[in-house]
Amino acid sequence: DGNDGLDVSGLLKRTDYVTLDPGFVNTASCQSDITYIDGDAGVLRYRGYPIEQLAEHSTFAEVSYLLINGELPTAPQLEDFTARINRHTILHEDLKRFFDGFPRDAHPMPVLSSAVSTLSTFYQDSLNPKDAAQVDLSTFRLLAKLPTIAAYAYSKSTGRPMLYPDNSKGLVENFLRMTFGWPAEPYEPDPEMVKALDLLFVLHADHEQNCSTSTVRMVGSSGANLFASVSAGIHALSGPAHGGANSAVLEMLEAIHRGDDDADSFMAKVKDKRDGVRLMGFGHRVYKNYDPRAAIVKKTADRVLARADNPLLDIAKRLEEIALQDDYFVQRKLYPNVDFYTGLIYQAMGFPTRMFTVLFALGRLPGWIAQWREGVTDPAMKINRPRQVYTGAGERSYVPVLER
Ligand code: ACO
Repeated sequence: DGNDGLDVSGLLKRTDYVTLDPGFVNTASCQSDITYIDGDAGVLRYRGYPIEQLAEHSTFAEVSYLLINGELPTAPQLEDFTARINRHTILHEDLKRFFDGFPRDAHPMPVLSSAVSTLSTFYQDSLNPKDAAQVDLSTFRLLAKLPTIAAYAYSKSTGRPMLYPDNSKGLVENFLRMTFGWPAEPYEPDPEMVKALDLLFVLHADHEQNCSTSTVRMVGSSGANLFASVSAGIHALSGPAHGGANSAVLEMLEAIHRGDDDADSFMAKVKDKRDGVRLMGFGHRVYKNYDPRAAIVKKTADRVLARADNPLLDIAKRLEEIALQDDYFVQRKLYPNVDFYTGLIYQAMGFPTRMFTVLFALGRLPGWIAQWREGVTDPAMKINRPRQVYTGAGERSYVPVLER
């Protein structure tokens, strides 16, 4: 603080002090006004609003506005926001043809990422991320088109026709109609399902500097546009340690249900770290207490799945029960994360396992956009360029190939 008379101004400018922090466990990459997490207390707030209140009272459209603009919208602001999104839901017919080029069994996550990347070629006005009006336009295009792209990725895998969006519907309802609406036109999605999916999107909407969001910000730091940055974020989300966990949880529950293991012998395998098996949907880098989103998802799962007996839900609850009383999990502070129960809800809605991470991406999109916009407009923003600690060979002389 200067009281000790030490002049540190030179030190602050030096770049030869490198901190090694694998996985960025203790390193902040930016300052942000968007999302607050207290991992020890199990607290999550978007722009200051507790996730529990938003989950109970808000909607995905309103939360998207909040994350991107910083304040909850007034009724006319929300109406204008929704109307602007609805103007951009249709995909260019040439872009629709891209879906023909993918193999029918392609995983929908790379399809999603490729289609988002392609938006830069259709909307070349997006290439200047310093132009605020164009950034707004790209924001609305992306919010509007990602659900259409996601529904088409599903249609492609099932061989069904790609339905045009119906802009008289809300975002979630429209997405469900484009996904499941053929051949049952006119299709009316179950209101309970619309409400549950909207809620899951709210819960996924942002989570500060997680792997995919950091990727979006990092790509944006080079001056790349919003589409390129989000496309990279989708790839980051696809990994099983991140968004891919929701489908991995269901595969794990199904394997136990099939009888490959019972709950107790599976947990023994996890604790022995046999074959690197982990209890998927458990543990979190930041939450060392119950993930507040998981608590809400669990209640939703109970409500949505109450209509019929669900043996997978029983297995999930049994695994959680074992974990919460077991020293292995207690000592490592491993609790269910948001993905532990989501897969069961998505399955009950009729989504195949491969679509689960796509649903995560749809929910996370406003967070990626808000974080990207905050990053590129931050006066302190520099191109992200981590350092390394070199551990390779010292200097050595080149030896021609025939002398090696
Ligand atoms: N099952 C069993 N053991 C686990 C689990 C788990 N799910 N997660 C962590 N551990 C153990 C590790 O083996 C390690 O044990 P050790 O101390 O004996 O070496 C200890 O807990 C710490 O684990 P790390 O991997 O160092 O924790 P990190 O913070 O790096 O990882 C992560 C967090 C990736 C989420 C991890 O808990 C995990 O792999 N979970 C399963 C996958 C998952 O659910 N991912 C979704 C994350 S949330 C999201 O993206 C929405």
